[in-house]
Amino acid sequence: MHEQLIELHRRYGPVVRVAPNCYSFNEPEDSKVIYNTTASKTFPKTNFYHTSGDPNRPNVFSMSSEKDHAARKRNLGTVGLFGEYHPLSVRINTMLGTKHVGKVLDDLAERSLNEVGSNIGAGSDTTGITLGAAFYYLYRNPEILATLRQEIDGGPDPISFEETQQMPFLQAVVKETLRIHPAVGYILRRTVPAGGAHLAGRQFPEGTQVGVSAWALHQNENASSIDRATFRPQRWLEGDETNNSKAAMSFARFQFGGGTRICLGRNISLLELYKVIPLVMRNFDLDIQDDDWSLFCTWFVWPDYSVRIRPRAMFEAGST
Ligand code: HEM
Repeated sequence: MHEQLIELHRRYGPVVRVAPNCYSFNEPEDSKVIYNTTASKTFPKTNFYHTSGDPNRPNVFSMSSEKDHAARKRNLGTVGLFGEYHPLSVRINTMLGTKHVGKVLDDLAERSLNEVGSNIGAGSDTTGITLGAAFYYLYRNPEILATLRQEIDGGPDPISFEETQQMPFLQAVVKETLRIHPAVGYILRRTVPAGGAHLAGRQFPEGTQVGVSAWALHQNENASSIDRATFRPQRWLEGDETNNSKAAMSFARFQFGGGTRICLGRNISLLELYKVIPLVMRNFDLDIQDDDWSLFCTWFVWPDYSVRIRPRAMFEAGST
């Protein structure tokens, strides 16, 4: 699906009808309109999301109502992703003498599982997919791997998140991985609100389903990026008229979605990526067994390849 979307946009331009009432876009300007943060102009999630969890008890990911979502997010915000369902909150509620405690706790347990399930699915698969893509691209590009290792080997071990933020090449590798292999491949479907919307030079009536796939957006040849199908972290460090400057690359940051429904776990996942990549690249070496990987897209774009992993020093010394 992700590759088809790129190809369809290459052939037909910035807007492609992908289903009778659903349109895909790949220009940054349209993405900004669809995934805006202005309460009165929000494009709510479509019913496509309702199957991600119990349809009768929507979780923070699956719910369409922006009003309910804002309320749920306020709860989640106070004590982290699990919010009102956090063990501490349950304890406080109990201590405050909530009536019908048994029913309340049953209800909480059920809703917690629903919410926690959605976070675990959203959190572990996505970060795992990104790590798989990072390692694959690094080993397919030995010069890039060598440059990264030079930076990592010169840094502290173990390394803190703060220290990783002083490592420009590592940052470029993470950004480039998230650009070229965003974990979600489908378009993030939204409903055009009352009054309709002007997108890609056309008017779309209320109720139309519209959306953007990070793959089609990040690999849009018309956007200000060159050789966008190539893994080239350096593009994030260049600031010249090739249009690959930091500001010009801002369109390629849709890997976490956008607007009011932007990923709630993005900081956790960045922390994981910035900690795990240097740790693995400093201490281990991967031996990719396959000539090529295969990718399959079922909402997430799963990389599939076999790898043998060994301690780095042993590998370099030629032992098994
Ligand atoms: C590299 C890692 C990750 C990527 C690429 C990613 C990507 C995304 C994307 C694209 C969305 C928007 C979906 C949409 O609008 O249809 C999203 C939403 C979400 N993500 Fe992530 N995610 C990552 C890690 C995580 C982690 C670690 C967690 C939890 C611990 C998490 C929890 C969520 C939740 C709860 C939402 C729903 C937000 C809402 O609708 O308000 N994600 N993620």
